[in-house]
Amino acid sequence: MRAVRQLAYGEPLVVEDISDPVAEAGEVLVEVAFGAVNPLDAWISAGSVAAAGPLPRTPGCEGVGRTADGRRVGFRGAGLGLVRDGAWAERVAVPADALAVIPDGCDDRDAAALGIPGVTALDCLDRAEVGDGSTVLVLGASGGVSTIAMQLARTRGARVIAQTTSPNRVGQVSRHADEVIVAEADMLEEAVREVAPDGVDVILDPLAGAFAAPCVRLLAANGALVLYGASAGPEFAFGPQEMYRKNARVIGYSGLPVAPAATARSMESLYALVAAGTLETVIADELPLERADEALTRVRENRAGGKLLLRP
Ligand SMILES: NC(=O)c1ccc[n+]([C@@H]2O[C@H](COP(=O)([O-])OP(=O)(O)OC[C@H]3O[C@@H](n4cnc5c(N)ncnc54)[C@H](OP(=O)(O)O)[C@@H]3O)[C@@H](O)[C@H]2O)c1
Repeated sequence: MRAVRQLAYGEPLVVEDISDPVAEAGEVLVEVAFGAVNPLDAWISAGSVAAAGPLPRTPGCEGVGRTADGRRVGFRGAGLGLVRDGAWAERVAVPADALAVIPDGCDDRDAAALGIPGVTALDCLDRAEVGDGSTVLVLGASGGVSTIAMQLARTRGARVIAQTTSPNRVGQVSRHADEVIVAEADMLEEAVREVAPDGVDVILDPLAGAFAAPCVRLLAANGALVLYGASAGPEFAFGPQEMYRKNARVIGYSGLPVAPAATARSMESLYALVAAGTLETVIADELPLERADEALTRVRENRAGGKLLLRP
């Protein structure tokens, strides 16, 4: 079968003919329809996450496809693309507990955009206890996680303020936000205070870097900053009084340790929302496996503009 292969970290990916995977006990063979591309794949390819994983290896931490018994399934986690061969291939062996069944009414493309981004959005909202009446600032609003988070927050009755650095993405983002601000880190606080003078209850932050300090200042009393990524840089500093004097919380989130079975149930709940017409995804492009490197570059350089999918 054809598969993308990572031969060495920091080197271009290649497409090779390799042997079909064999499903071991407790695993299921999946005929891949789409592999999804996430920033995590870019970190892994550069060797900054899971560098201890065996090489050569097939990348791709999530995808969708069909099982031999005819089920349409999504899958993520369980070490796929990290420490074992992943989704960017014609076929992949997946631990059975990592399979999420896709219902009628949710197509393969939507499902492929909901694994890592969808579960991250759901878990971050839960950890920050976003509910009716919360004011939520969503950073990097055009991103895969943020697109889902804004919609889920609004279904909970929250007011959503979306931040983007990309003026050309305001139209896309404003579908799911009550207010949209276009601001880099240095103008973030001023721009948010124009629409929320007293600050916000919850901030979902995939950026960190220079965005973290204004975010802490923007938290209202008892507010929560959920940090789940570092797209704008891993280092940051903020005044501790800005946090503790407001009884505010900074919450970290990583989906990697979440049990595959729990993740799969979360994915099924998101598929059901798509099937019911209450959740939508933004698919930017479907690319052949040969263009995997180009996909990673677009993600790294913030040129994706929506979810990128790889089609075997
Ligand atoms: N902890 C976890 O379990 C977990 C799970 C999923 C993702 N993540 C992390 O969360 C982040 C977002 O993931 P995603 O899938 O939503 O990514 P994505 O689809 O690539 O979106 C990220 C968004 O962030 C903004 N952005 C990117 N680079 C930026 C920069 N240098 N400065 C300012 N804004 C920037 C862009 O929004 P605008 O163009 O609208 O400004 C972009 O659309 C990544 O760092 C990823 O690794 C973590």
